[in-house]
Amino acid sequence: MSYSHDVLVVGAGLAGQRAALEAFRAGANVGVISKLHPLRSHSVAAQGGINAALGPGDSPEGHIYDTVKGSDYLADQDAAKILCTEAGPCVIEMEHFGTIFNRAPDGSLDRRAFGGASKSRTIYSADRTGLALLQALYEELGRERAITVYEEWDALELVMKDGRVHGLVGLHRKTSKIEGFSAKAVVIATGPAGRIYGKTTNSHSSTGDGNAIAYRAGAYLKDMEFVQFHPTALPHTSILITEGARGEGGMLKNSKGERFMERYAPNFKDLASRDVVSRAIVTEVREGRGFPDGTVHLELMHLGREKIESKLQEIVEITRKFIGIDPVTQGIPVFPAQHYMMGGVHTDPKGATNLPGLYAAGEAACVSVHGANRLGANSLLDTLVFGKISGAEAAAWAKKTSSATVTQGEVDAVTTRIHTMWERKEGETVVKLRNEMQNAMDEKVGVYRRPDELLAALAKISELKDRYRNVYVSDKSTTFNLNLIEAIELGNMLDQAEVLVAGAVARTESRGAHVRMDFPNRDDAQWLKHTMALPSKEGPVLTYLPVTITDYQPKARSY
Ligand code: FUM
Repeated sequence: MSYSHDVLVVGAGLAGQRAALEAFRAGANVGVISKLHPLRSHSVAAQGGINAALGPGDSPEGHIYDTVKGSDYLADQDAAKILCTEAGPCVIEMEHFGTIFNRAPDGSLDRRAFGGASKSRTIYSADRTGLALLQALYEELGRERAITVYEEWDALELVMKDGRVHGLVGLHRKTSKIEGFSAKAVVIATGPAGRIYGKTTNSHSSTGDGNAIAYRAGAYLKDMEFVQFHPTALPHTSILITEGARGEGGMLKNSKGERFMERYAPNFKDLASRDVVSRAIVTEVREGRGFPDGTVHLELMHLGREKIESKLQEIVEITRKFIGIDPVTQGIPVFPAQHYMMGGVHTDPKGATNLPGLYAAGEAACVSVHGANRLGANSLLDTLVFGKISGAEAAAWAKKTSSATVTQGEVDAVTTRIHTMWERKEGETVVKLRNEMQNAMDEKVGVYRRPDELLAALAKISELKDRYRNVYVSDKSTTFNLNLIEAIELGNMLDQAEVLVAGAVARTESRGAHVRMDFPNRDDAQWLKHTMALPSKEGPVLTYLPVTITDYQPKARSY
């Protein structure tokens, strides 16, 4: 059997759903393929809010400036302008779709402060904003009954011919059947690849499959070396403790009881941008001012029970259940964990990649609006604004493109590749290879990066890629074979990890979230440019692309 659509969206989180909706409304026959049920997409994990300059005295210009400054001047300013000017209409639209946002006493949308922002412009639904948005958008999508959602299907490989996209080959988890999906346009919206790391706030599904298949098909991966570490994750599990907790007035304290952010960011303090706060926490712990478990504490006690339990319900539940700490009376131990990939599939501001017919949106994409460091609450915004734009563009492309086909021969070629791996009688286990990858990334490609460690990580990833050729899938059953799925995901993660580390080795400067101990300063003369990676037999080939600067010339960045 094979399936056919004008536009096929890969991934059913906020970016994917918004792209699908827009493509459908533009007249396309739309399919969505997702390895999860849409409501289990990683978008659901976003807690703190979505930025829009809707408050008195605020403006899209202020939002653009904060975003560009936060990016350490690596954001493309034309794209940042689109993000921030579309923010207000986007939030209002989501409200009309049924999102229940918190309200201020006068009935307007309430706003909380967030990191790196000069104004309180984060609209929120307690500390479950991603869930609230996803539910409303899913209901809206459901009203358009003609959109087909293929749940629990993995995208294995893009089909490219005649210089353009013709669709993809996918695997159905329920049966392990491999089939073709022809489509004139494909939108990659598969979210992050945070599971490259062991210590991550990302869900287990965050393996960046769409990025890997796009890269292998010849799409550029851009700026992959820029990895955001969220300052406040729980130790051991790395579960996110929202920045909204600091937005509501929470403070970071070291073991001496000092509010140490006053030293690192005298003006913004605990609400400096994430790269700054994460570095400060790591420095405090390294210099012996952390707690014995290697954390600092996030204190909320002074906010009072009522505020904590009403605005930070999720945090209260998480801390009570996972670490037996009551934030109403005790500090929460926190330490930075991988949270967000600023890099992704390179697109222009309309979501188009370098491959005709291939689009990307959301965290999978790198437009680039976040540059070297994303501001908190700009990510939900990115998914919706660029999801919508890429959906419209994909539909327009499909309209002017003749039919697309995926042949049985193309499906068979992918089937042979997967079955060769699956039928192997012995080899290395997925768990062993994945653990080694995650340990290398956690230990050697973190908040502070040393050249010898980066080189060791690159050698390790290359060794793991070699060993992966002999990976062994012990489970031979065909129903929801997670052993097989995880083997496929591991191959996807290794490809992205290699690009990430190669970019970090090459970038001999410190900018945003990429901090090299041997090159501690930003170097605009050499490095005000995006890293672009394409695959080759010898590994990633890196080239560079200028940053689009429109209104804001790079200057020293302080908070
Ligand atoms: O801290 C948070 O709630 C995360 C938000 C974000 O990454 O945008």
